Amino acid sequence: MGFKTDFLWGGATAANQSEGGYNKGGRGLANVDVVPTGEDRGPIIRGKVKHLAFDEDHFYPAKNAIDMYTHFKEDIALFAEMGFKAYRFSIGWTRIFPNGDENEPNEEGLAFYDEMIDELLKYGIEPVVTITHFDMPIHLINAYGGWRNRKLVDFYGNLVTVLFNRYKGKVKYWITFNEINMILHAPFMGAGLVFEEGENEEQVMYTAAHHELVASALATKIAREIDPDIKIGCMIAAGQYYPNTPNPEDVRKAQVDNQSNYFFVDVQARGEYPAYALKELERKGIEVPFVEGDKELLKENTVDYVSFSYYSSRVSSADPSAYESTSGNIFPTIKNPYLERSEWGWQIDPLGFRITMNELYGRYQLPLFVVENGLGAKDVPDENGYVEDDYRIEYLQKHIAEMKNAVEEDGVDLLGYTSWGCIDIVSASSGQMSKRYGYIYVDRDDAGEGSLKRSKKKSFDWYKKVIASNGEDL
Ligand code: BG6
Repeated sequence: MGFKTDFLWGGATAANQSEGGYNKGGRGLANVDVVPTGEDRGPIIRGKVKHLAFDEDHFYPAKNAIDMYTHFKEDIALFAEMGFKAYRFSIGWTRIFPNGDENEPNEEGLAFYDEMIDELLKYGIEPVVTITHFDMPIHLINAYGGWRNRKLVDFYGNLVTVLFNRYKGKVKYWITFNEINMILHAPFMGAGLVFEEGENEEQVMYTAAHHELVASALATKIAREIDPDIKIGCMIAAGQYYPNTPNPEDVRKAQVDNQSNYFFVDVQARGEYPAYALKELERKGIEVPFVEGDKELLKENTVDYVSFSYYSSRVSSADPSAYESTSGNIFPTIKNPYLERSEWGWQIDPLGFRITMNELYGRYQLPLFVVENGLGAKDVPDENGYVEDDYRIEYLQKHIAEMKNAVEEDGVDLLGYTSWGCIDIVSASSGQMSKRYGYIYVDRDDAGEGSLKRSKKKSFDWYKKVIASNGEDL
């Protein structure tokens, strides 16, 4: 017994990394629009620098990205050619509510997603929609301070009400927040947070996290009222933390690091703050801004499935000096001597994928959905745009094989697999185009130059074969 017959094979992207068209169709300005490439990107992503407008000194890759805003039909046709059963994309909040706090949505923005969804359905491709993927109206940051403000819950509630009503009967799988645990590592992307000098940053992050958790439960409640067939998923950046040594101090540190990741899913899947988190927050003097009704809302509106991204495992040590951190990692980690690394220092661990899946399934006993996985690498195309990306094929082969083991040997219930950046898009951490994940090459460079022409890589036909054989022919 391999994958289910209706297994959702496909690919994934996010609005801010693919759409472009930042000022088209009545769209408002988003936080991600003003995140530049270069060395200022990191501090901005982490909320350390206030940078809420364009300037002449930087390049802003999200403004035009790969212009999926105008190329989406061509791109979806290529996905269909590969045999995609599902395509995960995200909604640009500012297309629907340009400022975020309006009463009425922007019809032009909705019309864009109408067309996109209809195009997918035309090919029998299931849309898997992320409601927010590192994306929010900049006005909500300027006027309300981002997700630190409880009012965001209402604005998000308005957004999802519009979406669920509009796409009732068309979109079944929704994801409330992309990599919700990213709030703790890239708070500007995860929650529109910019810290004030001297404020308690952890307090702000957990306040924002609480508001997102409440908003996610509210979305689940609204979804079930509008369309009982909807399936709501949470989403975390997964990747098991291994202890650096069998020293119990390291084992304990790995446990704590894992808990800090699982905390979010514990709330979304089990419906309450776990004891370890309440104790830890209390020790740190952090107050969770519960208001009346929050606990019931969280308890009664848990998710239907757990979706996650997996790129790498991580290593924890009780000894801070052991962290000679690997470059390019948003999550602090230690070099694992047993693993190879990508050109960006991301450690490659296919067996860790199986381990992570077992941890998640064992903990929640809910269907899992792999909504991101893949290798970011530099590609060198020939004159026709063809890339011999054997390294990417090898990465995916090994990961899919371990995913299969998790299903076949360990009995993990898995809904689907949408590999990341099925078409080359802008990198979230670096803003580069040259960190490519796709089966489809896009002619665009790190400075935004290029024809935007799409062409198939070697992995295109390979993935087509994988899908056609339901994962048997790797
Ligand atoms: C995940 C994000 O963290 O990893 C994506 O959900 C991101 O938005 C992906 O693109 C890969 O990371 P990067 O930095 O290589 O683009």
